[in-house]
Amino acid sequence: MKWPESAVGCLFLVVCLCSYNHQVNALDNGLLRQPPMGWLTWQRFRCVTDCKTYPDTCIGEKLIRTQAQLLVDGGYLAAGYQYIIIDDCWLNTTRAPDGSLQPDNQRFPSGIPALADYVHSLGLKFGIYEDYGTETCAGYPGILGHLEQDAKTFASWKVDYLKLDGCNADIKDFDTGYPAMEQALNSTGFPIAYSCSWPAYQEFSKIKPNYTAISQTCNLWRNWADIDDSWDSVYSIAQWFGDNQDRLSPFHGPGHWNDPDMIVIGNFGLSPGQSRAQMALWSIMAAPLILSVDLRTISDWARAIILNKNLIAINQDPLGAMGRRILKLDGNVEVWSKPLENDRVAFVALYPDPYGTPIQVTISLADLGLIRYQDYNFFESFNGDFLGKYHYTDKYSCTINPSGDVHAFYVESAAPTKRFRRH
Ligand code: GLA
Repeated sequence: MKWPESAVGCLFLVVCLCSYNHQVNALDNGLLRQPPMGWLTWQRFRCVTDCKTYPDTCIGEKLIRTQAQLLVDGGYLAAGYQYIIIDDCWLNTTRAPDGSLQPDNQRFPSGIPALADYVHSLGLKFGIYEDYGTETCAGYPGILGHLEQDAKTFASWKVDYLKLDGCNADIKDFDTGYPAMEQALNSTGFPIAYSCSWPAYQEFSKIKPNYTAISQTCNLWRNWADIDDSWDSVYSIAQWFGDNQDRLSPFHGPGHWNDPDMIVIGNFGLSPGQSRAQMALWSIMAAPLILSVDLRTISDWARAIILNKNLIAINQDPLGAMGRRILKLDGNVEVWSKPLENDRVAFVALYPDPYGTPIQVTISLADLGLIRYQDYNFFESFNGDFLGKYHYTDKYSCTINPSGDVHAFYVESAAPTKRFRRH
């Protein structure tokens, strides 16, 4: 991102300090200092296992190899999307005679180590799915009773990322079970990023998750519902995170991230405006950017949104602060903000209502929290265009298209003059 260079001082100092305080005891295995970026099979390819009927989309090594190559050729790896992760339905229905995990050998005839080697040879990292319980959500063998054996298997396969789901298990076991798997993974000595579904099942069962323990154990964790290919799904998940931001954001930061689930841009359900909205909101939330899309057929406009450098820079900002929904305005417009390094702040104004006409919104800089400096420069986030210089007593106006589009912008101080000097 081409940020202008004149920023000084400190915006949203309190927010930053709060999140740093809570990061002291969080997991520090050195992995995922920025939100993970990658590609995962689930949302787009689900559990298609019939390769006779669906030879191009069934879960198997052919699909993974094809999409991995496209992650490189399409510029996604260069933009930061480095993990390629196989979700559910890669396993054989039974373990091997020695009790070890094995893939379905019709769909993965070369075996997982060869596939991981291929992925690594492209410069990508390799991820895989398992489940803490007796079976995965789709009914394949889970890890219960085999934690150490399976951790060793993953390490020997050079798996860089494990998504561990929580179907077919006793939720009461999660507070000890997920940390036990973390210990088993750590003991292998191979660095494996650890994605947990631990709190998602607890939140749904109205059990209060121990986010302190979760952030000490997992690099990221699913908190809430599975995302589907629709605006309703994207919007309702964002609303849940806004509604729960006070208790989630303190645990969010480098190495340990709340996860609102995959990016569904480029599939069947989102309009261009709604796609911009998901990218902007997930960037403001510093959420994992895990795509699930067929890279063979993605449209140019969807690809451009996913690859937008400025939005990715907001998402990957080194502070790692989880953005917050700060305002609700007329027309159900809501404004989210996220502090960035070098005293910049990113904003997203979202207009969800479906009433045809674009809405004009006027917001005081004070309501945006921009009162520390005399003057601020505003820039449009998607294209970096300069939008104007505003005094802290001014109001900022923008127009937003309906039905889930956004106006995304970022600001920095326009002059090194603080209104409130700190001594
Ligand atoms: C659960 C998870 C999804 C996906 C499926 C696979 O529903 O939340 O993300 O992994 O299981 O069966």
